[in-house]
Amino acid sequence: MHTTEFILVTPQAQPHVAHIQLNRPKELNALNLQLMGELRDALKILDEDDAVRVIVISGNERAFAAGADIKQMAGKTAIDMLHIDQFSTWDQIRKTKKPLIAAVSGFALGGGCELAMTCDMIVASETAVFGQPEIKIGVMPGAGGTQRLTRAIGKAKAMEMVLTGKFMTATEAEKHGLINRIVPVELYLDEAFKLAAEIAEMSPVAARLAKEAVNRAFETHLDEGLYFERKNFYLCFASEDQTEGMNAFVEKRKPAFKGK
Ligand code: CAA
Repeated sequence: MHTTEFILVTPQAQPHVAHIQLNRPKELNALNLQLMGELRDALKILDEDDAVRVIVISGNERAFAAGADIKQMAGKTAIDMLHIDQFSTWDQIRKTKKPLIAAVSGFALGGGCELAMTCDMIVASETAVFGQPEIKIGVMPGAGGTQRLTRAIGKAKAMEMVLTGKFMTATEAEKHGLINRIVPVELYLDEAFKLAAEIAEMSPVAARLAKEAVNRAFETHLDEGLYFERKNFYLCFASEDQTEGMNAFVEKRKPAFKGK
C-alpha cells in the first residue's frame, strides 16, 4: 500500500475485510483532491487484492466527511474546475467491484453524503446527519447527490434537502431508506464490520456479480436490468464457488468459498 497522508488503510482489519479510515479530523474529513486521490488508489489496490472481500470506509465519531474541501474550491473558476475535473476520481470509486460499506457517524454532508451513497450500504450511528447543503454556499451537489439521493429517498424529500440544505437525522434517513441501520455511536464500526464479515463469508464471485446486478437497477430500465441479472446468474455457474455452495447445501455442511 502507498504511503497516505489523509487516509488510514488496514487491508486485513478482520479476515477478508479491509478498512479505510478518512483521516483529516481537524477539517471534519473535508474531501480535498489529495484525499480523494488516495482513496481512489487505495480502493483500486484493495479491489485487486484476492485476500480482501469487503471494504469498510469510515471517518471518525464526529464526522464521516463534511463535504468537498470548500477552502480548496473557493477561488476556482469554471474553467479551473473543468480542467481539475475533480469528480472523475469518483467514477473510479464507483467502479470498485467489491462490496463497500460506509460506516457513518456525525456529519455526512455534501461530498460526504455523496461518498456514503456511492458505497453499497450505510451503517450509521445514532449521531449521523446526512445533507446536501451546497445550496447554502451558492452551488449544488456535484458528485451524484441529485441523482443518488433522489433514487434513495424519492423526489420530494431529495428536492427539499437539495433546495434548502436541510440535514436529515439518522432516524429519518433510516425511515426513508437511505441507510441500512442505526446503532449506538460506540457500536457503529463494530456493526459495519459485522455486516462485512457476514458478506465476506459468501462467494466473492457471486458477491461481485450480484453487486453489479443490483447497481444495474439504477442504471437501466427493467428489461435490460433483468437481462443483465440473468446473464450474471448464469455466469455464477462458471465458478468453483457455485459447485461448492450447492454441494455443501446438499451435503448439509458449511461451504468454504475461495473466490474461484
Ligand atoms: N471544507 C473545508 N473545510 C471544512 C469543511 C469543508 N467542507 N467542513 C468543515 N471544515 C472545517 C472548518 O472550516 C473548520 O476549520 P477551522 O477550524 O480551520 O475553521 C473545521 O473544519 C471545523 O468545522 P466547524 O468549526 O465549522 O465545525 P462546526 O461543528 O461548527 O460545524 C459543520 C460543522 C456544520 C459541518 C460546518 O463545518 C459546515 O457547515 N461545513 C460545510 C458543509 C458543507 O457545506 N459541505 C458541502 C461542501 S461542497 C460539496 O461537497 C460539493 C460536492 O457536491 C462534492
